Amino acid sequence: PVMDPADIVVFGGTGDLAMRKLLPSLYLRDRDDQLAAGTRIVAVSRSGLDDAGYRDKVDSELRATAPRWAGADVCTDDAVHERFLSRLHHVTLDVADSDWSVLAELLGPQDQRIRVLYLASAPQLFGRICVGSAAAGIVDDRTRVVLEKPLGHDLASARAINDEVGSVFAEEQIFRIDHYLGKETVQNLLVLRFGNSLFEPLWNAGQIDHVQITVSESIGVGNRADYYDGSGALRDMVQNHLLQLLCLVAMEPPARIDGEGVRNEKLKVLQSLKPLDGPDVVRDTVRGQYTEGLVDGSAVPGYATELAESRAGTPRERERSATETFVALRAEVANWRWAGVPFYLRTGKRMATHASEIVVQFKPVPHSIFPAFGEEIPANRLVLRLQPDEGVPLHMTAKQPGPGGIRPIPAPLDLSFARTFGDRLPDAYERLLMDVLRGNPTLFMRRDEIEAAWTWAEPILRTWESTDQRPRPYAAGSNGPASATALVERDCRAWHEDY
Ligand code: BG6
Repeated sequence: PVMDPADIVVFGGTGDLAMRKLLPSLYLRDRDDQLAAGTRIVAVSRSGLDDAGYRDKVDSELRATAPRWAGADVCTDDAVHERFLSRLHHVTLDVADSDWSVLAELLGPQDQRIRVLYLASAPQLFGRICVGSAAAGIVDDRTRVVLEKPLGHDLASARAINDEVGSVFAEEQIFRIDHYLGKETVQNLLVLRFGNSLFEPLWNAGQIDHVQITVSESIGVGNRADYYDGSGALRDMVQNHLLQLLCLVAMEPPARIDGEGVRNEKLKVLQSLKPLDGPDVVRDTVRGQYTEGLVDGSAVPGYATELAESRAGTPRERERSATETFVALRAEVANWRWAGVPFYLRTGKRMATHASEIVVQFKPVPHSIFPAFGEEIPANRLVLRLQPDEGVPLHMTAKQPGPGGIRPIPAPLDLSFARTFGDRLPDAYERLLMDVLRGNPTLFMRRDEIEAAWTWAEPILRTWESTDQRPRPYAAGSNGPASATALVERDCRAWHEDY
C-alpha cells in the first residue's frame, strides 16, 4: 500500500487506454486496499462530462468488461465499487486553449499528497500539457508525470518531446511507460537470472547459441489503422517492447535492483547493439504486411482493406501503404559477453497464434556418447513464455523410458505460473501504476535509453525507405513471410514454434 493519499490526474481520461487499462488497474489495486484514503482520480478530457456523468460512464464500462480483465468475481462488492467511484472526478478541458483554473482549484495545494499527471493522450500534446500544467500552477518539484508511448517516431521527434517535457520536469519526476516491463514474466526474468545460481554462469557466448524474442499477435490493426499506418511494427513494437526484453536478457548484473542500477545496465546493452545500416538492413531484416486469411478458423481481411476502410491518408496512399505489420531481424550485442550470438527478433499482427516468448537456446553437448540413436541430442532450451499461459519451460534431455537401450529424448521441466502460484496474475498496469505512486522508477525508461533505442532503430527505417524495401505479403493466420524463416535458416537455425 501507499500511505500518502494521491491525486492521479489522467489526461485523456475518457480514452481507450484509460477505460481499458488504467481504471480497471486502479480499481483492482483499490479493491486490495492499496490506495490510501482520500486518493482521487481526476479525469481530464474535452467530453463535457461532470463528475456524476463520468462516474456513470466508468461504472458501466467496469461492469461490462470486468469478467474479461479479472474474472467474474470482480465488481460484485458494492462497498468496494462505491468507494472507487467516489474517488473519480472529471474536468472538461481542451488543453490547447481552455482555462485551467477549474482543474487547479480542484487539485488545490499539493501538500503531503502525491500528485501524478498521467498523459494518456496523443503524444503531440505532451509538451503542451506539461507547459500548461506548469502555467496553471499545478506542478512543483514533487509532481510526477507519466508518459505513454509512442515517444516520437524517430530520434529527433523523441528528443523534441523529451526536451519539452524536460523544460517542466526533472528527469527523476518523469516516468516513461513501457508496459512490457510490468508483465510478470518479464520481471521474472530478472529473478530467474539473478535469483538463481544455475543460469548466470552459462549466460554468455560460450554456452548460448542464440536468443529468440517473439511477440506474435493474432489481432489485426482494427480501428487503430489511422495511428498504425504512420507507425508500423518496428516503431510500434521493436523500438520499445522487444528491445526492452532484449536488454533484460543481455544486461550485466546490476549491483542492486534500483532505477539507476538497472537502467545503467540496459543503456549499455542498447549502446552495444551492432548498428544495422545500409546492406546489413537488406540482409538482416524482413518486413511483412498481412493479406487476407484465416485466423482461428475465421476469414479476416488484409491490412490494405482495413486501411482502406479507415480514414488515414488519401485513397491512393492507402492502396500503396508500405507500412509493415511484421518485422523479423537479426541483431547482435557487440560486447564480450555476447560476441557472435545472434538475437533474432520477430513480431507481427494477424499471426497464427497470440504468443510471446523469449527463447534462450543453449549449445549442444560437445560429443554424443549415445551414437546408437544417431548423433543428434537436442540442445537445452530455456523458454520464458510471456503470454498466454505464463511459464518457464526448460527443455531438457531425458532417457526415453523402456528396456530397449538408452534413447535420449527432449523432456520439459515446466514451471507454469498458474499451476504453481494459482492466483490471477496482475496486469502490467497494476504494477506500474503502483510503482509511480511509490516513486520507484526501476521499470520505467530513462531519457537516454529511449534515445539510444532510436539511434539504433532509425537507420533501419531510413534504409527501408531509401532502398524501397517494401513489406512482403503474408497471409493472415500464418507465421509471417517465408523470408523470415529464411533469415534464421540461413544460419542453420529455426524459429521455435512449439508454443
Ligand atoms: C502496444 C502496441 O504497445 O502493445 C500494440 O501499440 C500492441 O500494437 C500491444 O497490440 C501489445 O501489448 P500486449 O500487452 O497485448 O502484448
